[in-house]
Amino acid sequence: MKKKILNIIKSKNKKKLVCLTAYSKPFAKILDKHCDIVLVGDSLATAMYGMKNTHDVSLDTMIKHGISVKSNLSNATCVVDMPANSYNSVKQAKKNAKLLFNKTKCDAVKIECNGKNYNIIKSIVGLGIPVMGHIGFTPQYFKKFKVQGVSKKNAFKLMEQARKNQEAGVFSIVLECINEPIAKQITEKLKIPTIGIGASIHCDGQILVTDDMLGLSGFYPKFVKKFANLNNIIELGIEKYKKAVLNRSFPNKKNIF
Ligand code: KIV
Repeated sequence: MKKKILNIIKSKNKKKLVCLTAYSKPFAKILDKHCDIVLVGDSLATAMYGMKNTHDVSLDTMIKHGISVKSNLSNATCVVDMPANSYNSVKQAKKNAKLLFNKTKCDAVKIECNGKNYNIIKSIVGLGIPVMGHIGFTPQYFKKFKVQGVSKKNAFKLMEQARKNQEAGVFSIVLECINEPIAKQITEKLKIPTIGIGASIHCDGQILVTDDMLGLSGFYPKFVKKFANLNNIIELGIEKYKKAVLNRSFPNKKNIF
């Protein structure tokens, strides 16, 4: 196993993992200085492309953004999402995981769990491609948002999914929008690190969609804390530019040839 992936596993119970999403070069360059894991998430569907969910992102789109991000990272571990319907069978999953891994040169791929696809995870791990798991509210398989692990039955199901992901060979697992007590229990039971998004402080690491936490996407559910308000900053810059064009102070002597 590659050193980067081993280091992520070894961080369990030692250091909280700092993780964020990136879809492009400028963000990759900044995140590389601060993050353990940079995820090229299929959340780009909604955050970048304005789609209503992540169900229709193509493998080709993930490859293009994966190349842009990975080629601008030196330190952080780069994980790229396998998009919906790119891993419906073992044969298809192996073909597409190889393509995504080889073209982007990423360190790992991420697979959302539908409660059945453990053989698919196992087959990709078997190719020597590290896999990050993802349970809880898995947007590729849900139409409507719902916090997971509230009922006893659902909490038990999540515990089983976490255990089976680990058995299938994932090196870490995203817990998305999972009730605090069950997120804590899963984190304590697993040997691999859990990365929480809306899943409490007890997880081994945290991830957010960068466009959300920087106030860029306009999507701010309860689990997102806005650490900056980029929309306001961008708006101010655009207003200044507009004013300068209209009052003919731009371009000035310094900006012309
Ligand atoms: O697509 C994504 O950005 C994700 C994170 C929210 C974990 O899967």
